[in-house]
Formats: sequence, C-alpha cells, structure tokens
Amino acid sequence: MKKILIAGPASQILGVKIAQELAIEVINTETKLFPDGENYVRINIEDETLIADKEVIIIQSTGPSSNGNQNKRLMELFMMIDSVKRMGAKSIIVVAPYLAYARQDKVFRPGESLFANVVFRFINSLGIDELYTVDIHAQHVLKECTCKTVNIDSMKLLADYIKSKGAEDIVVVSPDKGAVERSKAFARHFGENVPVEVFEKKRDLKTGEIKMSGVLSLKGKDVVIADDIIATGGTMATAIKLARESGANKIFAVATHALLLDQAKYRILKAGADEIIGTDSIDNEACKVSLSKIIADYLK
Ligand code: R5P
Repeated sequence: MKKILIAGPASQILGVKIAQELAIEVINTETKLFPDGENYVRINIEDETLIADKEVIIIQSTGPSSNGNQNKRLMELFMMIDSVKRMGAKSIIVVAPYLAYARQDKVFRPGESLFANVVFRFINSLGIDELYTVDIHAQHVLKECTCKTVNIDSMKLLADYIKSKGAEDIVVVSPDKGAVERSKAFARHFGENVPVEVFEKKRDLKTGEIKMSGVLSLKGKDVVIADDIIATGGTMATAIKLARESGANKIFAVATHALLLDQAKYRILKAGADEIIGTDSIDNEACKVSLSKIIADYLK
C-alpha cells in the first residue's frame, strides 16, 4: 500500500525528516485561529484523491511550544485524523511523540478527572489503526487505546549523545523514586556497571511545591539526571542543586520531552547544569537528538 506522511503543525521538522528516512511524500498543513478562538487545520492539498486508499502517517507531537499549547495541538491532531478519514485513507497511523495529559493518569485528589483516559477515548472514537508515542509518562494509560500502540524508547539515542560529549565516570541520578526503573534502563546504555543513585522527592499535590532530599557520593563524577519530562524545571533544578552539593563534576539535564516552560531554562542552568538535552519531540532549543530515524525504523 502506498504511504503518505502529513507533517502536523507541531512537528514540521520531525515530519519532514521521517518522510526522508522513509522516502515517501510529505504534505504540510495550513492552520489558523478563528476570531472566536476556534482552531482550523487544512491538509495542504488541492486533490483529495491523493489521500484515498493510502496508508496515511500523521506526525503531531502534542506538547506546548511557543506557538501552541496542548489543547490546540490535540484539536489539530483530531482535525487531521478526521480530514484524512473523510478523504478515504485506507489506514491511519498517528505518531505523537509527546502525548498531552499523560501525566493525568490517576485521580490524585478527590474530584479530579482521569483525563489521560479521556484523550484516548477521543482518539478511539476517530478510528485510527496505530498509535506511536515516545517514552510516555505512564505506560499503563496506553491500555485505554483500542488500536495497536507502540511506546518507543529514546534512551539509547540520548545516551549516545551524552557519550559524544565526552562524559566520563558517569553516575545516573534519578530525581525521584518514580523514575528509578527508567534511570536504571538509561544507565545500561552507558555501560554494565554504571551506578544509579536516587533522590527523594515529594510534591505537594495542592500547591505543586517540590521538596527533594538526599546526599550522594558524586565527587568528581559526571552526572546524568534523567526524567521523561522537564516542564517548569522545578524537579530538575532541585536535583541539580543537590547533585552540585554532592560534588558532581559535569551535570547533564536530560529529558525526552524538554517542554521548558516559563523560567525552566534559567532555573536549570542557574542550578548548575552544563547542558539541557531533549529530543525533537518538542521543537525548541534543547532539542539535541532527533527521533526521526528510530520512528522511521518502527514505521518501515
Ligand atoms: C513527574 O512525575 C515527571 O516525571 C517529571 O518529573 C515532571 O513532570 C517534571 O515537572 P517539572 O519540570 O515541572 O518539575
């Protein structure tokens, strides 16, 4: 079946790179915001038969960036799926490296919505065939999706980048217990016996305030602090400060999805990070590693 790729407004560069890896045609989109605030997306084609009977791959990360928040990105994704479906796509594959609302995977306080599941129910109702995401915050939310799902692991790519920067005598530090398994898996990409150390983190569910503690033996070590998401940078900056106090040499602040909201860059660098490293899941200045090849390999 002939494949065609649509580079959504949030993932234009990544979309083009994946299309090049797959050697298939790529189409972009036209977007605008109506005066009343409603979103508009149009797949940029004049001939709708281009889509009919094709396997259509839609690339759209749904994280916030300078020109769109999560809600806008999700609406655009839903609209693109609806458009290609209406134009008679034979099958629809969605690649959303960052899945918005994945952190709302539990009811943390009475009265909350389990909105991660709701996002999947929206997607289910639109009828896609496959969904690919990258290092999703909580893997269990994918169970809500009725189509085939794949959670791609970006850790080797991130580790290779850090190795290329000459990091030596590495310790991987997990900023909280929830990230320990991920950190252990990450450490294996640096070598067999690379140690993993953990800080203790507590977040106040009402105020969002973070408290972190721990004294580690990091004297002279190059420290890699790995998380799935950097949002406000609070978690990362606090961990970096403690790592500095524990004698770390170089500190690499690493996240698959470096959203870098508000003052995040300032907080992380001021806390003492040597570099902030993210992937092109989020198209910003922290994007040092491209997911294009690994995603293309899965799509082949
Ligand atoms: C939380 O469990 C996540 O893995 C990240 O640690 C969190 O999203 C980071 O948020 P922030 O940068 O706002 O501290």
